[in-house]
Amino acid sequence: MHVYDFDTVIDRKRTNSVKWDFCTCCDGADQMLPMWVADMDFQSPPEVMEAVLRVAGHGVYGYSEMPSGYYDAIVSWLDTRHRWSVQPGSLSYSPGVITGMNVAIQTFTAPGDRIILQSPVYPPFLASIRNNGRQVVNNQLVLRDGRYEMDFDALEEQIDDRTRMLLLCSPHNPVGRVWTRAELERLADIVQRHDLLVFADEIHGDLVFPGFHHTPFASLSPEISARTITGVAPSKTFNIAGLKASVIITENTRMRHAFDQAQERVFGLYTANVFAIAAAEAAYRYGGPWLDQALPYLAANVEYVQQRLARDIPQVSAVQPEGTFLMWLNFSKLGLSQAALRETIFCGAQVGLNDGTSFGEGGDGHMRINIGCPRAMVEEGVSRIAAVL
Ligand SMILES: Cc1ncc(COP(=O)(O)O)c(C=O)c1O
Repeated sequence: MHVYDFDTVIDRKRTNSVKWDFCTCCDGADQMLPMWVADMDFQSPPEVMEAVLRVAGHGVYGYSEMPSGYYDAIVSWLDTRHRWSVQPGSLSYSPGVITGMNVAIQTFTAPGDRIILQSPVYPPFLASIRNNGRQVVNNQLVLRDGRYEMDFDALEEQIDDRTRMLLLCSPHNPVGRVWTRAELERLADIVQRHDLLVFADEIHGDLVFPGFHHTPFASLSPEISARTITGVAPSKTFNIAGLKASVIITENTRMRHAFDQAQERVFGLYTANVFAIAAAEAAYRYGGPWLDQALPYLAANVEYVQQRLARDIPQVSAVQPEGTFLMWLNFSKLGLSQAALRETIFCGAQVGLNDGTSFGEGGDGHMRINIGCPRAMVEEGVSRIAAVL
């Protein structure tokens, strides 16, 4: 069996990396350890690198189109990994899941409509609703027995005649929940009774720790599939976010046509770039064994952080993530203002995290840390934080 290397620290500085070259957490901090933007510091599976190098070596980078093998690789991945059987014709290209979310909002809702999100949540959810002139309905998650849950009772009360869509984050960034089938079925019952559409952002769906199981929302039933637009991508799973290739899955034919037309006519988006096509196909076709080793490595990073918090920084806690490579740290016992917390972590410890308040209500007193990196970096990051608290 090939053993993949997740331990080597790869220098990403001066590679135009958002995470490493554009961290503005603290002006003047020259030793910043960036653990914010959600990409990983690992090399992608070797087959992905080989595919990109093959394309690069050709030297002609003209207009491209996705071959049937590209779609077959995605369909086969969804089937074997998630027992979700979709037709290749249900797939649309999108450069990003958030692009797809915006197109869906513009195509299937009208200005002034109400759209639900569940905060604290990945900041572009809020921006996508607001920037399109729709109203935000926040069905805030609740923390019960150390685990975030959906507030179904509140949700029933929040939905009214102008409510059209729910933005589901599954698995959830930043709280790391992998929603159970029972939770999703309860949500499905509500959206069906209230005739809502769902945009299911399942970009983290492959990043699920042992003992947990990701259920694609649209796979629950044909009725649910008919009202769901799903975004998936190889970007988080295989660390190729910079290549900009995501997949939007709409099994409702009428809705898929509307989505595709909007993308092509309004936004001029219809195909991926040459590198993304080759990389995504190789990732889905050959990347499974790499992912199967990356996941236990990430789970061990999580465990390491939990142990260090318990031992060295007991005033800081983290909910146990069930998936993703992100952890939601709770600093509220320190009693610091958010500004003082930022100053302490960003400028004092020189560790770049995501400010909890950027995730909306429920984010105060929190920060998100990205543990998708070699263990040595996780150790360094936690040690720096421990040293200033
Ligand atoms: C939940 C979630 N959705 C979407 C994205 C971004 O996806 P894309 O780059 O495909 O728009 C991220 C990135 O962190 C994310 O965490």
